[in-house]
Amino acid sequence: MKDYKVGVIGATGMVGQRFITLLAGHPKFHIEVLAASPRSAGKKYSEAVGKKWAMSCDIPDSVKDMIVMSASDDVEKISTMVDFVFCAVDMKKDEIKALEERYAKAECPVISNNSANRHTPDVPMIIPELNYDHAKIIPAQRKRLGTERGFIAVKSNCSLQSYVPALYPLDKEFGVKDVLVCTYQAISGAGKTFETWPEMVDNVIPFIGGEEEKSEIEPLKIWGKIEGDVIVPSKRPNFTAQCLRVPASDGHMAAVFVRFEKKPSIEQIKKIWAEFKGYPQEAGLPSAPKQFLNYFEEDNLPQTKLQRNLENGMAISIGRLREDTQYDYKFVCLSHNTLRGAAGGGVLLAEQLCEQGYIDSKF
Ligand SMILES: NC(=O)c1ccc[n+]([C@@H]2O[C@H](COP(=O)([O-])OP(=O)(O)OC[C@H]3O[C@@H](n4cnc5c(N)ncnc54)[C@H](OP(=O)(O)O)[C@@H]3O)[C@@H](O)[C@H]2O)c1
Repeated sequence: MKDYKVGVIGATGMVGQRFITLLAGHPKFHIEVLAASPRSAGKKYSEAVGKKWAMSCDIPDSVKDMIVMSASDDVEKISTMVDFVFCAVDMKKDEIKALEERYAKAECPVISNNSANRHTPDVPMIIPELNYDHAKIIPAQRKRLGTERGFIAVKSNCSLQSYVPALYPLDKEFGVKDVLVCTYQAISGAGKTFETWPEMVDNVIPFIGGEEEKSEIEPLKIWGKIEGDVIVPSKRPNFTAQCLRVPASDGHMAAVFVRFEKKPSIEQIKKIWAEFKGYPQEAGLPSAPKQFLNYFEEDNLPQTKLQRNLENGMAISIGRLREDTQYDYKFVCLSHNTLRGAAGGGVLLAEQLCEQGYIDSKF
């Protein structure tokens, strides 16, 4: 893989901070631009982020004094300075959609953490271990946008990054039919810490706006197929979800109940999980976990605090697989919501698209 100059749009936010900590140590991606709202533009990064810095490490020296640019006023300038941008902003959906298209039309590829373009039919929504081949839609998107380099690729919502990876590899042989999932989601998923959201200490809130719909609908695009110039979402499996906010800082847990077309044995399921490898493992991408799906035999694992950082927060932890009285099986799984579920998943997706030649190095 060549070296690439990158920008982080939404650099002062929770996901933006994660991007910065991951990119500061990245072997091939080098931060050239940090951008945020006009409130932060013109300030040194350390001043703009101020007390919002929520990472356990210090702000990397390489970005502390960088002057933050305006995500919306400096689109053309930023696009000439970088090979591509990562985007994670808190704005209205239609504004995000328009902003991402402006970058793409300025010939700057966008790797997005936002939900605004997830259902645009020619925008691939990729978990690189599962549906990496959806990148083949990019030429059709470029044709629509009238671009040569520019395009938008997105990663899916953080809630489903634990249970979809566990289910997807089982589908080919056994046909995943019905899935009931309850998610227990960390507060960083709302861009918050216990300092900024004290109501969450000793509390559970049984509602996360829009999350249940995303958890049920987005997997169908991951399961979808390219037909002509669009990705057509699958009509199956059936997903039903309840999403709760729980007092964990990072790490989304999911309790899953699943029914198959053809019921596998417990041993068959564990074997598929243990042996599963995707494109990132085969291509040896820098951020790929060596073992993507990790099954724990202990009754009390995985635990949010103990397993969320497995393989730099890029691996999925699974446990408690057992027969169910109504479905075939039930199990729990865990993924780090701002690493695998957000910034880390974005970096891995960018690595895939660079490795496959969809993003070239201009400099
Ligand atoms: N947190 C997660 O686990 C997670 C997971 C997956 C996806 N996401 C998605 O990622 C995105 C960002 O989430 P977050 O948790 O990082 O949010 P956040 O902490 O609230 O950060 C929001 C970022 O957006 C910037 N921003 C706000 N208004 C803007 C404007 N008008 N123009 C340009 N930039 C603007 C902010 O800049 P200022 O500091 O200058 O205001 C900040 O950099 C959201 O779409 C979210 O749904 C989050």
